[in-house]
Amino acid sequence: MSKSYFQAPRGTRDILPDESGKWQLILNAFANLATRFGYGQVISPIFEDVGVFQRIGENTEIVSKEMFTFQDKDPKTPQNLALRPELTASICRVFAQHRPTTPWKVWYEGPQFRYEKPQAGRYRQFVQVGAEIIGENDPAADVEIISLAWRFYELIGLKNVSLLLNTLGDSETRATYNRELFSYLSENADNLSPESKNTLTKNPLRVLDSKREGDLQVINNAPTIQDFLNSEDKDHFDSVCDGLNSVNIPFSITPRLVRGLDYYTRTTFEFVADELKTAQNAIGGGGRYDGLVEELGGPPTQGIGFALGVDRILLACESERLELGTRKPLDAFVVDLTGGTHATQIADELRHSGLGVDRSFGGRSMKAQMKVADRSGALYAIIVGDDELEKNEVTLRDLRGDGTQVRVSRSNLKSTLLDSMKRRDS
Ligand code: HAM
Repeated sequence: MSKSYFQAPRGTRDILPDESGKWQLILNAFANLATRFGYGQVISPIFEDVGVFQRIGENTEIVSKEMFTFQDKDPKTPQNLALRPELTASICRVFAQHRPTTPWKVWYEGPQFRYEKPQAGRYRQFVQVGAEIIGENDPAADVEIISLAWRFYELIGLKNVSLLLNTLGDSETRATYNRELFSYLSENADNLSPESKNTLTKNPLRVLDSKREGDLQVINNAPTIQDFLNSEDKDHFDSVCDGLNSVNIPFSITPRLVRGLDYYTRTTFEFVADELKTAQNAIGGGGRYDGLVEELGGPPTQGIGFALGVDRILLACESERLELGTRKPLDAFVVDLTGGTHATQIADELRHSGLGVDRSFGGRSMKAQMKVADRSGALYAIIVGDDELEKNEVTLRDLRGDGTQVRVSRSNLKSTLLDSMKRRDS
C-alpha cells in the first residue's frame, strides 16, 4: 500500500531553487529601482485586524469572500485577524499609526492571501511588489508612481506591456456616477446575465467588468465616468496624461477600467501583459485612494500607489521567452577523499573570502563525489586525496572548460581561485 503524502495547499506553490533565482532577480531589481526613486522599504505584519482590510470595501469580493480570517487566541483580547489580501490598507494603517512626515514614499514586497478559485496566474498565496506615496495630491506623484512601475518592467526586459489608464473622479463624482450607473443598469436589468444582476445590487461598477457576451451590449451603452467629472478631476487627469507623455510612457485611456478594490478615487491604472493568453493577464495595477488613511483613523491624507504580481510577471517573462538570470554557478566544489575534515576547512576558508563553494558529505568514493561536483554546476573541483595531503597540495580540475587539472599548493589555493575568477569576470 502506498503511503499518502502531503502536498502544498490548493492555490499555493513551492518555488524550488532553480526557479527561485528568477524570483530573487525580480525582487532585487525592484528593491534597487525603488531605492533609486527615493522610496524606503516598509515591512509590516502579514496579518492585521480584519477591520483594516474591511476598508477595501465591504462589497468587494476580496473582503466578502476571499479573506483568510482567524481569531486571536487570547480570551481577554478577542480580536478578528486576517492574512493580508493586499498591502495598501496595511500601509495606510502604518501611516495612521506612526504619522511620518509627508510625502511618505515607501515600497514593499511579500506574500498576499486571497481565497480565490485557483487557475493559471491566480493563486491563494501570491507575491506582490509595490510602492505608495502618502500625503501628496500633485499629479506629478501619479506620474512618478506609474513611471516607477513602467521602468521596472523595462528594467527586467518585458516588452509587451500595455498601460490602461482611467480616472474615477473624487469621492463625490464617484458616488454620483455610481448612482447613475445603478439606475441605468437597473433599467436594463432584463438584458443582463443573472450573475451581473446579482453584482448590480452590491457594486454596480463591477458589472462593467463582466466579459459575458450577453452583458456587453448593455455595458457598451452605459454612461461613462467621463461625463461626470468636475473641473478639478479633469485638470488632475489631464496633468497625469501630459506628465506621462512628457516621459514617453504610452497609455490607453480606458473609461471602463474597473479595479477590484473600492477605495480608489481619481487616477486608476492597470498593466496588462499582451503575450499572456490566460484570463489573468493583469500584471499590476493601482491608483489614488485619497480617503483611505482617514478611514483608518488618520488625518485626511491623499495617497497613490501600485502593486505588481510577481507570479504573473514571471509567467509573462516566460511567454516572451525572456531569459532571466538563473542561479549564479558555484565557483568550486571540494572533493575530499581523506575523510571530510579538509573539505570542511577548505570550504570555510574559501566561502569566507567570498567564493561560492560546496562540498560532499559521507566520505563517498571519488567517482560518486565527482558526479555530485559535476551536477553542482561548479566551475572547479578541488580534489584532496592522500597524495595531495602528503605534499600539502590540492588538485584543481576545470569542470566547465577543457577539463585540465593542475596541482596547487594548499597555501596558494585561495589566491589561485580568486585570480582565476577575476580573469573569467573580465
Ligand atoms: P490588485 O489589482 O488587487 O491591486 O493586485 C495587483 C496585482 O497583484 C494584480 O495586477 C496581479 O498581478 C496580482 N494579483 C492579484 N491577485 C492575484 C492572485 N490571486 N494570484 C496572482 N496574482 C495576483 C492591489 O492589490 C492594490 N493594493 C494595488 C494598489 C496599490 N493600489 C494602490 N496602491
